[in-house]
Amino acid sequence: MTEFMQRALELALKGQGHVSPNPMVGCVIVKDGEIIGEGWHEKYGGPHAEVNAVRSLEDEAQVEGSTVYVTLEPCSHHGKTPPCADLLARLKPKKVVVCNVDPNPLVAGRGLKKLSDVGIEVETGLLEKEGLALNKRFFTAMTKKRPYVILKWAQTEDGFIAREDYTSKWISGENSRELVHQYRAEEDSILVGTNTARYDNPSLNVRFDIEGKDPLRIVIDRNLELSGDLKLFDGSQPTICYNTQKNETGKNLEFKTLNFEEELFPQILENLLQRGIHSIFVEGGRFLINKIIEAGLWDEARVFTGKVKFGKGIEAPKINLAPSASMDIGEDRLTLYSNSEYEKRPSGH
Ligand SMILES: NC(=O)c1ccc[n+]([C@@H]2O[C@H](COP(=O)([O-])OP(=O)(O)OC[C@H]3O[C@@H](n4cnc5c(N)ncnc54)[C@H](OP(=O)(O)O)[C@@H]3O)[C@@H](O)[C@H]2O)c1
Repeated sequence: MTEFMQRALELALKGQGHVSPNPMVGCVIVKDGEIIGEGWHEKYGGPHAEVNAVRSLEDEAQVEGSTVYVTLEPCSHHGKTPPCADLLARLKPKKVVVCNVDPNPLVAGRGLKKLSDVGIEVETGLLEKEGLALNKRFFTAMTKKRPYVILKWAQTEDGFIAREDYTSKWISGENSRELVHQYRAEEDSILVGTNTARYDNPSLNVRFDIEGKDPLRIVIDRNLELSGDLKLFDGSQPTICYNTQKNETGKNLEFKTLNFEEELFPQILENLLQRGIHSIFVEGGRFLINKIIEAGLWDEARVFTGKVKFGKGIEAPKINLAPSASMDIGEDRLTLYSNSEYEKRPSGH
């Protein structure tokens, strides 16, 4: 039933910002048309959704004969926790329904096979697109072997991201800035180019009383010319500086060399994936964002357009795609672009 899977998807979302690089997963146990148990994967390394749903019951024997709705195929391998497929196989629900088969090669159909091998009915593909959208970061990391990339910038009504003197205050309003902090809390990392670090001196942390962890900060600085006094280098939050000069790891600050003679962004993607980073929020500037757009290595763009006009300055990047949505955020207009097959489109179920 779609409504039960919808509930499992809602529960899964509660794990946002807490479970990466694991996928977000929700689980609902249904008997006689009623939800009797619910759970979700709450934090990385903690129990999976199925385990939490079973624990929410008075007695695990209630699972027998039930239908279990779980947004992602139950795992079949021993990771940080024992396999959920084994748990369900032992507790004998009548049926297990999932949105998506797990793309992780360690699972990939094996969890479902464990269930069908003991006579449990298995259904896949219920709210499939919603499941893919929920875990777009995880699916991108598994299938494209790179983190999910979200571009963000604020532009004036006449299409500039900064003035000629590189200043860019105040293009967008308070509501937009608050939303950006929410967006930061949802991703594993935030990346900026050298000039953005130099001229804007951003903190790239999560403020506005928004709950969530501060993402990994990443800055590009080819010849280590940026001042050590910038907020990015204050050691308050994990930070990586990609450069050509040194490899060095200090408290919350790592310098890592890459080959700047070759395209840099693909190397950044590869290095971050190796570290278990599944998403990057790119906060400019123009040079960096244009490089990423040219390479087609982006999944979403979130563009805030303010009411102010600069007349001249640094032109905003342009995207050659129709927007997927747009909405008012306070006085500003937010336009969304999607370049990912995992972005939400209704599945028609
Ligand atoms: N309105 C907004 O939303 C917004 C957001 C961010 C920034 N800004 C404004 O944008 C301006 C900066 O824009 P920008 O285009 O000059 O700066 P940027 O993209 O932040 O920095 C450009 C520099 O970073 C290095 N870099 C960036 N991407 C690279 C890549 N893929 N490969 C190799 N090197 C790369 C290069 O440094 P080297 O030349 O040293 O190699 C490049 O010259 C500032 O005025 C800032 O205020 C506005």
